[in-house]
Amino acid sequence: MVMIAPSILSADFTRLGEEIRLAEEAGADMIHIDVMDGHFVPNISVGQEVVRGIRKATRLPFDVHLMIEDPDRYISDFVNAGADIITVHLEAAPHLHRTVQWIKESGKRAGVSINPATPVWSLENIISEVDIVLVMSVNPGFGGQDFIPESIEKIRTVKRMLRERGIEALVEVDGGVKISNAREVADAGADVLVMGSAFFNSEDYSEVVRRFRVENQVSP
Ligand code: DX5
Ligand code: ZN
Repeated sequence: MVMIAPSILSADFTRLGEEIRLAEEAGADMIHIDVMDGHFVPNISVGQEVVRGIRKATRLPFDVHLMIEDPDRYISDFVNAGADIITVHLEAAPHLHRTVQWIKESGKRAGVSINPATPVWSLENIISEVDIVLVMSVNPGFGGQDFIPESIEKIRTVKRMLRERGIEALVEVDGGVKISNAREVADAGADVLVMGSAFFNSEDYSEVVRRFRVENQVSP
């Protein structure tokens, strides 16, 4: 089953707990939390204290996407705050094996993300260690950007790489995903689709999830 992970970056921050509860009620599979430091990406978003605060709002897994330099410094903070999946960027973590190992030793699932300009082959020597590969389909930093069409081929290539090596890791896709392209992204090989603006800017979250399930029900 293809999973939907609403990104709270586009939620109403004055009512964050309620937004997350509504996403859970609507049938979301996990909550995607974008952490930005103003260095690795131009924007600043939320940190570990916000994650700790919203942990009480839901039982859904927290999918924490670290768009920060030197992620090693903060992994234990996000583990303690209640993250279930911690994804770091390949471009930001020079000692990626150590970082991934550390996340896994903390009992959490480890993800590695690649930016649109980072080739899939850069994953060659880490892919067998990860639980999730996060393919960015926009340049990270902001919600509401357009899906970069070349990402479809990258998703296919990542999926093929995993299949050929018998690796169980999930493929997650983040950026510009909406109902109208969800099927194409899932058919290319995505297991988890992040949806920020298309989810939280909609009137009816249950309707988004319902349409998402209809779109994907006949996918392989
Ligand atoms: C972008 C973030 C995304 C973002 C997606 O840097 O990593 O998770 O919230 O937002 P949409 O779905 O609006 O592109
Ligand atoms: Zn994200």
